[in-house]
Amino acid sequence: MKIHVDEALGLFHLQSKDSSYIFQVVEGYPAHLYWGAQLNHDAGLAHILELRERCSFSPNPVPANRPLSLDTLPQEYPQYGTSDFRQPAYQAQLDDGSRITELKYSGYRIAPGKPKLTGLPAVYTESEKEAATLYLYLKDEYSGLKVTLLYTVFAEHSAIARSAFFEQEGSAIIRLEQAMSASVDLSDSRYQALYLSGAWARERHIQRRDLAPGALRLESRRGSSSHQMNPFLALLRPEATEDHGDVYGFSLVYSGNFAAQAEVEQFNQTRVSIGINPSDFSWKLEPGQSFQTPEVIMVYSGEGIGGMSRTYHRLYRQRLCRGKHRDQVRPILINNWEATYFNFDADKIEALAQEARPLGIELFVLDDGWFGKRDNDDSSLGDWFEHERKLPEGLSGLAKRVNEQGLQFGLWVEPEMVSPDSELYRQHPDWCLHAPGRRRTEARSQLILDLSREEVCDYLYDTLSKVFASAPITYVKWDMNRNMTEIASAQAPSDRQKETAHRYMLGLYDLLERLTTSFPDILFESCSGGGGRFDPGMLYYMPQTWTSDDTDAIERLAIQYGTSIVYPASTMGAHVSAVPNHQVHRMTSFALRGDVAMSGNFGYELDLSSLSQEEKTLAARQVAQYKEIRSLVQQGEMYRLLSPFEGRGDTAWMFVSEDQSEAFVAFFRVLAEPNGPIRRLTLKGLDPNKRYKLEAGVSAAAAASGAKGSADDASAFREAFGGQSFMGDQLMRIGLVVSDLQGDFASLTFRLQAVEA
Ligand code: DGJ
Repeated sequence: MKIHVDEALGLFHLQSKDSSYIFQVVEGYPAHLYWGAQLNHDAGLAHILELRERCSFSPNPVPANRPLSLDTLPQEYPQYGTSDFRQPAYQAQLDDGSRITELKYSGYRIAPGKPKLTGLPAVYTESEKEAATLYLYLKDEYSGLKVTLLYTVFAEHSAIARSAFFEQEGSAIIRLEQAMSASVDLSDSRYQALYLSGAWARERHIQRRDLAPGALRLESRRGSSSHQMNPFLALLRPEATEDHGDVYGFSLVYSGNFAAQAEVEQFNQTRVSIGINPSDFSWKLEPGQSFQTPEVIMVYSGEGIGGMSRTYHRLYRQRLCRGKHRDQVRPILINNWEATYFNFDADKIEALAQEARPLGIELFVLDDGWFGKRDNDDSSLGDWFEHERKLPEGLSGLAKRVNEQGLQFGLWVEPEMVSPDSELYRQHPDWCLHAPGRRRTEARSQLILDLSREEVCDYLYDTLSKVFASAPITYVKWDMNRNMTEIASAQAPSDRQKETAHRYMLGLYDLLERLTTSFPDILFESCSGGGGRFDPGMLYYMPQTWTSDDTDAIERLAIQYGTSIVYPASTMGAHVSAVPNHQVHRMTSFALRGDVAMSGNFGYELDLSSLSQEEKTLAARQVAQYKEIRSLVQQGEMYRLLSPFEGRGDTAWMFVSEDQSEAFVAFFRVLAEPNGPIRRLTLKGLDPNKRYKLEAGVSAAAAASGAKGSADDASAFREAFGGQSFMGDQLMRIGLVVSDLQGDFASLTFRLQAVEA
């Protein structure tokens, strides 16, 4: 890791672990030269810049320098209106109504470490040696607008963190209309875009398609990062695969409206930009005021999509997630939502906890319906006091009963919402997002509290603090179940209304910062109807997210696989639920459901008393197995082996310990194949020179014991390979035959343990 500066040439060479990022100041404009595999530092790098005179439709900001045109120059933070006709990185309106600004290089500073971004989530360092930051200063002399571009490089990660900081040093008001976190101009367009799209219950499915002249735009205008589009975009060479080739990832550390764009221009250069969605954004900068954009984590991988994912996994696991739970294994939980929905009382909850105890489950999570008069989703959000009929002894009484069953106690809340039928709404009808005189559009009978208002956030902090302190609560599930409409604030002046969506996020982040600081022992899990806000911003405050409301094991293969493109398994909540599955009504075996859920933060979400004795035995085995592998799953390196988005949907992945002495492999056969070919599962990430002993997993063991719903689908595999040992190179080059797995929806898991050669 090093930041080289050649002042005479105006050349900046940022080396982050094994990647290089290079730009050069040309006539005051920072021009992008290179991003990719690491290069030696050398003055000859300046020759990368190629200026060639084009036709008269390429204007010249410096008349004497005809080859220089902003419309063709690859740039670091391009501006609007001064002869670059591509997507600008920012736009600002001056007091006179004009929208022309011209940022020119005005200096730089390099500092060890990485600064905090005030009020925003961001990747961090624990020692200054881990990173170095370049501050590149740009200034519009006429208006006084100063922009600092921040670039952080890391010793241990091939990633660059970028953001922009705006300050009005002049004497007039400036209105930012767009302020992207970063813009990068790549020198050609031979790329495909890879991104994660979906909907409620089928989040983060992988899309991959060619770039072509014109713009590909990914965005959310829903007030949250959304189920529909994750704040992530990667460009990759068409020949890039899971394991090979150049991949460039852009992951925005933000939970609100975002936009990401890849624009191929006339000379086949590609401009990528990502940041807050300008469609519902503006920011008024009075003299002396500033604005910080969210940060984007840009990852280069020369080792395909898998290499990119593992960089994100490590960085997000170790230096985005925070708090004492970051490095601790997560508890195995039972959640009552799909077991009871709103229909429960303290006795029923205690009975569920009683069922969970002998299985080895560690935490009981009381979901929606414990407060106000909430017996369905029509009322009570905002009334964070106990439902008297359901919990006559309050939360503390219930927590005590759950604790007596040997389980920790966790609680669901949805603090950002208010039901029109609630005491809170009757007291403060103006506390929700709304526009004067307009309908307040309800979704699931709820409105959204205006978290851009300090008093609303203070109220929530006080109210939730009391709830969290009222009982021995060790876990909180923080839900958010609708998109934003009528985004306006009763408190903001008319010329700041367009700041509301972003101010809401700042209010939310501040509230989460205060609560997580006040309750450091609580493990927080975020949720938004499942994965509607599965983004790096939320992970900064809450180290895990409920991946999807879809608990069907087969659907989960695609959801968890797609999610793993950016996010590590330690961030994904994954539960065994009942069949027929409540979302898709599919029947799958208990063993398969366990095997899929074990590749995340494992738990159960069903009525345990309805299980057969065999299923209970199997559940106890699953819990015991997960306890053995959870540090591997939650802290190991993940390698994807087979994609559910290809072929017949068979899926496989594995987790390898850092020292390569242990691995856990999961293979899922979606549909049986008649008279199919021999299929071998080749593994990854092992030490080629180590010998590994294979131990068949719970699904196989369960099948052997004949547990209900667990066909003996893996007997051939078990007989052939169980207990045997193989060299790592053989497992990775030749693999193990898995085609003998029987039936649809079959699974197979096994562990590998390094043994003496
Ligand atoms: C949506 C969540 O994703 C579910 O798990 C559950 O908590 C419900 N909300 C409760 O309303």
